[in-house]
Amino acid sequence: MADRRSREPEATQAHLAWHPGPMPSEIRLVPPSVSRHAAFVDCVADFAGTAMDGASIVDLTAPPVSDAEFIEFVTERLAQEDPATELEEPWVHCTSRWIVPADGSDEVLGFLAIRHDLNRFLYDQGGHVGYSVRPSARRRGIASAALALGLQEARGLGIAPVLITCDEHNVGSRRTIETAGGQLENVVEGKLRFWIGDEERPMRP
Ligand SMILES: CC(C)(COP(=O)(O)OP(=O)(O)OC[C@H]1O[C@@H](n2cnc3c(N)ncnc32)[C@H](O)[C@@H]1OP(=O)(O)O)[C@@H](O)C(=O)NCCC(=O)NCCS
Repeated sequence: MADRRSREPEATQAHLAWHPGPMPSEIRLVPPSVSRHAAFVDCVADFAGTAMDGASIVDLTAPPVSDAEFIEFVTERLAQEDPATELEEPWVHCTSRWIVPADGSDEVLGFLAIRHDLNRFLYDQGGHVGYSVRPSARRRGIASAALALGLQEARGLGIAPVLITCDEHNVGSRRTIETAGGQLENVVEGKLRFWIGDEERPMRP
């Protein structure tokens, strides 16, 4: 794991030049870290219980806030990324990333998760990549920039093509996926299923 993570782009960053606004002009994706506890809690509060795709918080009514819960949460996220970690069915390995300003300021702008494999639920509904941007930072191009970086990481993990889904009426997410080159395959129970990449698509598990 150490070798792989050492090659991972703690410092990959993307420019947001096409979306002017008061937000940071660049973002980075960083691994979960206990050092960002206060910024994480502030970000979760901003969501106020609304959808936090890609955060890997199982119960949105009880996000990990206390020191002990947060340390456990971060530890689990890092373990879930490690291919050497044994996971129970139907869990798959997953790389969690937090979206932060590239200028080094201590803020968490959102979340992005890359699932390394597709179980049946992920194939039909969840996709490889999930993401969300805190409400106060939306409409500044952050999701688009984060997805571009997330796709680079997915490629580095050998995931190709990449499946991304969104709800039929989620205009912002649909635009984000289309901008990244998503090609719509179909709609399954209200989820639009897009593939990014021209490689052969896997069979349904
Ligand atoms: C969907 C979401 C990630 C978009 O984040 P964002 O940082 O605001 O997105 P961006 O600023 O990069 O915008 C991407 C595109 O969507 C458009 N868009 C974003 N939000 C929109 C909205 N509410 N209505 C219409 N268009 C919207 C933008 O104008 C932009 O379009 P363009 O590329 O044609 O200019 C964010 O609203 C969110 O976190 N929602 C809740 C969680 C969620 O739905 N996650 C996705 C699950 S698949």
